[in-house]
Amino acid sequence: MKRKEFILNACTVAAATLFPFNNLFAKKNSNENALWYELLEYARWCPSPHNVQPWKVKIISKTAAHLYYDPARVPVVVDTQSAFTIMGMGMFLECLRIAALAKGYELDVIQQQEPRLDCSGTQPRLFAAMSLLPTDKKATMAPQLIKDRRTSRAQYDGRLIPAAAIGRFKAIASTFGYNFVHTADQGLINYIIDLNSQTELERSDDKPTMDEMKKWIRTSDKEAAEKKDGLWYRCLATKAKVLHNFIYHHERFRHTWKQKIVKSMLNKGMKGTANMAWMTGAFNKRADWLQAGAMLQQLWLQMTKENIYMHPLGTVITTVGAKEKFMKKTGYDNDDEKLWFQVRLGYSEEPQRSYRLSVEDIVI
Ligand SMILES: Cc1cc2nc3c(=O)[nH]c(=O)nc-3n(C[C@H](O)[C@H](O)[C@H](O)COP(=O)(O)O)c2cc1C
Repeated sequence: MKRKEFILNACTVAAATLFPFNNLFAKKNSNENALWYELLEYARWCPSPHNVQPWKVKIISKTAAHLYYDPARVPVVVDTQSAFTIMGMGMFLECLRIAALAKGYELDVIQQQEPRLDCSGTQPRLFAAMSLLPTDKKATMAPQLIKDRRTSRAQYDGRLIPAAAIGRFKAIASTFGYNFVHTADQGLINYIIDLNSQTELERSDDKPTMDEMKKWIRTSDKEAAEKKDGLWYRCLATKAKVLHNFIYHHERFRHTWKQKIVKSMLNKGMKGTANMAWMTGAFNKRADWLQAGAMLQQLWLQMTKENIYMHPLGTVITTVGAKEKFMKKTGYDNDDEKLWFQVRLGYSEEPQRSYRLSVEDIVI
């Protein structure tokens, strides 16, 4: 071997041993990772509060992976207990479970014993260990529904949801130990919409809430497409400028007459709502939030299957005074039956598809 050739070869060998090529390619879609990539291609479409997408995944082998959460993506002000973020993680696991079942695998999950999310650090934290076990069980939910599902914050068309469909939603909730309560009482619906708008206006005066919101609001198409997360004005069915001013120049909206205009705009945005629902049941600890998440994912996919849209209305439930008013109005005189979610549902035009991080962004 010529001297020059020898030196070149030696350098290549040295570089190969010193440089962590395995790490470099660990994120690439190798055969080993292909199955997880396929499952994640569905699960990345999972919904999350503010579209924060807190999940990260480390692939260990063809049938093992670890689920992490990114503390920087947890909205700690509006979700003080991390209940709704943990619920979102439960929804993500349910998406993986549905996608895995269609491929002939059961998803086995060992949860971390962490009652709340720890957002003090900056590194992703372990949430659960996942394994795929071969199974003969038949899939009951088509994974394609995970991709088809969306939130519709548009006006609905006033049609009532058939009783048979409501029955199916109740049955899903009950399988998981929850109650799905439906109303078509237009007086009550109008009351809830008005209470929701009023509470949203009041909450927008709270500086910590607004500061956190700024992190997730996308008032330009460029920012929405680049960040691939958060609440894009097109998905909120509003105008970019109105949203920008409301969030960044909130002082301009303090006059009573302006508040009236905004409230009537918010109410008008929900015109045509003929169905509302809320969910009750255990909602006190991590295991409950995960269970509630699995239920909500199944329920939302069933609605998608039936061409019914859903719009979660979190503000009333998470604001003490507003929740009390709602409970009084509906006759829940205490919180024993834990009311934890409220939605409007019905039929609307197809809403804008919100962005998602890619599988490459999720895999660590
Ligand atoms: C647990 C949970 C709570 C949510 N709460 C609200 C809410 O209070 N208001 C709202 O407009 N959307 C809410 N959403 C909808 C998310 O913002 C939405 O899923 C996310 O932006 C992604 O959009 P997509 O559902 O169209 O894919 C919630 C979603 C989840 C999973």
